[in-house]
Amino acid sequence: MSSAADAPRLVSAPGPLPASLQFNEEGRLRHLLSIEGLSRELITEILDTAESFASMNAQSVKKVPLLRGKTVVNLFFEASTRTRTTFELAAKRLSADVLNINISASATVKGESLLDTLRNLEAMYVDMFVVRHEASGAAHFIARHVAPHVSVLNAGDGRHAHPTQALLDMFTIRRHKGDFGALRVAIVGDILHSRVARSQIHALNILNTGEIRVIAPQSLLPAHVESLGVHVYNDIRAGLRDVDVVIMLRLQRERMEAGLLPSEHEFFQLYGLTQERLALAKPKCLVMHPGPANRGVEIDSRVADGPQSVILEQVTYGIAVRMAVMSMIMGGSVNP
Ligand code: NCD
Repeated sequence: MSSAADAPRLVSAPGPLPASLQFNEEGRLRHLLSIEGLSRELITEILDTAESFASMNAQSVKKVPLLRGKTVVNLFFEASTRTRTTFELAAKRLSADVLNINISASATVKGESLLDTLRNLEAMYVDMFVVRHEASGAAHFIARHVAPHVSVLNAGDGRHAHPTQALLDMFTIRRHKGDFGALRVAIVGDILHSRVARSQIHALNILNTGEIRVIAPQSLLPAHVESLGVHVYNDIRAGLRDVDVVIMLRLQRERMEAGLLPSEHEFFQLYGLTQERLALAKPKCLVMHPGPANRGVEIDSRVADGPQSVILEQVTYGIAVRMAVMSMIMGGSVNP
């Protein structure tokens, strides 16, 4: 048995995170760990599949038997509201049995290693793990160690990736704006610590988005961020000019080293999305936020609740997109 001390060491030193790990020998999606490595065709197939689930979710009977008899375990080592609950609803609407492991009440706090927790859950004949962890590479680590019939969905690993969030964001953009080629999309705020931003940038690139901008102080941008194919703006007014979509991000204080951050008040003065700044974007510019939003820090309430905001639609579509991914990985037919 590995010792308790193994867990953080093993997951925080994951080595390279190969995108190829996501596919089985026939080239079908087996795990969803990152957006990197997904083709444009596959992302489009996921979004198309999610369309039919989105229509179903709006009806009075919201359940299909695609994953009947399967067991999904939500393994969340980090706080979550939207992601955990929408994964749970998605699995339930596909008729899977769902276990939610509350880590603060589990044996992890008694020193059990991640690998031991995993082996014990596998012994209960689990089919899919949905994993959120503070260490980048945690989902890859788990995917490398699960039994051949088990799939892993990454629900956020450290600063690295949050693929289903990026997919639901693409779904929301596509529903409102159609073709990505004609769009200018700006991502604003704490890009450095954001797994959401990283996954969104990959997805927007794969979908051939016209222009991707990141808007942030230099201290909240990853080194060489331009190499990801984005235009960098330190000035929000210049960056928002004529954009079709603006995505705001929370300051990820839990991942920050001390001293990196101006005060919240100062941040809002420099980078907060106000009505006056939003007016610089295109008239029908969408306002998005993966949540949790900090009103008065990165976004003014009048914008978060305003007519251009699709923040709650993102939450709604999260269910359909997660149903699509789960059914494509585990189910046979995907037509609900
Ligand atoms: C994000 C996350 O956890 O990465 N939220 C989410 O999943 N909807 C963003 C955040 O925590 O700020």
